[in-house]
Parts: sequence; structure tokens; C-alpha cells
Amino acid sequence: MADTENLVPPPPAEAAPLMTPINLILISFFVVMAYLKLRPSPPVTLPKGPAPVVFKTFTPKTLLPNNGTNNQPVYLAVRGKVFDVTPGRNFYGPGGPYQNFAGRDATRGLACGSFDESMLTEDLEGPLDDLKGLGDDEMDALRGWEERFTEKYLAVGKLVPANSEEAKEAGL
Ligand SMILES: *[C@@H]1O[C@H](CO)[C@@H](O)[C@H](O)[C@H]1NC(C)=O
Repeated sequence: MADTENLVPPPPAEAAPLMTPINLILISFFVVMAYLKLRPSPPVTLPKGPAPVVFKTFTPKTLLPNNGTNNQPVYLAVRGKVFDVTPGRNFYGPGGPYQNFAGRDATRGLACGSFDESMLTEDLEGPLDDLKGLGDDEMDALRGWEERFTEKYLAVGKLVPANSEEAKEAGL
């Protein structure tokens, strides 16, 4: 009998002391909660996964080196948008049937369904292709291509004319 009596906890004191272990735990808990609520929110971290894409500004001239030589990425532009078509390297990269488009503005060529060099804007320092002379069918085809590229490939930047305000702002 004496043994069991020893296990019974002592009756609670009339005025419980403030700093009981339980109170200390609760106080710490609230301090931590208050801290978590009030502290400045941490900077947004990008989700892990493929390297984040930096959206860049290109001129026809700075786009040109991205033509897939030396196993570099293959970029091409469609109506002012630059796409990374590296997954389609077999088509757009060196030796591929569309290699003329690599590192170039492919807009007119896609619209006309022609991979001929004459489809490319010759003067890389001049204005972008204004698509003059393209008919409704060609514009439809172009929209189709644009959708396809948007679905399939990553947009990595925009194409702006050399010596334009936008190019200057981007330090080009
Ligand atoms: C492709 O890019 C390389 C590297 O910048 C350049 O030397 C070469 O002239 C380009 N090729 C074409 C066809 O533009």
C-alpha cells in the first residue's frame, strides 16, 4: 500500500507558481508563433527544378550566335518572341532541315512554309520584318506555328530591332 501511495502525484497547490514547466513550454510556443507571424516574410524562393529561365532581350545580331553550333542551344524568333528550340535540334539545329532558322527571325519563313534563305531578314542592323506582303493564309499559318512553338518550346526572350529604344534599355 505504501508503494502505490508514493506514485500518487501531490495535490495541486492552491496558487500554482507561474513558471511551471508547462507554462514555460506554452510561453515559448507563443513567442515562437508570434515571431513567425511578425517576422518579415522571407524572399520568395523559386521552386526547385530546371534552372530558372531568364527572359532576355535580343537583337537579330545577338540572336545569331544561338544557332546551335558547338552544342550550344538553338534559338529562333517568331513574331518578336524568342524560343529555345534546342529539344528540336534535329530539325532546327546544324544539319537539320530548318537550320536556316537557327539564331534567326523565322517569322516569314514559317508563314510562307519556306525554309529558303531569302525568307530571312538580311540586314541584322535594320528594322524587324514588318510581314508586308503576307496574305491571310500566310498569317493563319503563322498563327498556327506560333501556337505550336508556344506549346512545345520555352520562350526565353524577345526580339527587338537593333538600335531601338528597347535594345538600348537592355544594353544592346
Ligand atoms: C553560328 O554561330 C556561330 C557562333 O557564334 C557563328 O560563328 C556562326 O557564324 C553562326 N552560323 C551562322 C550560319 O550564322
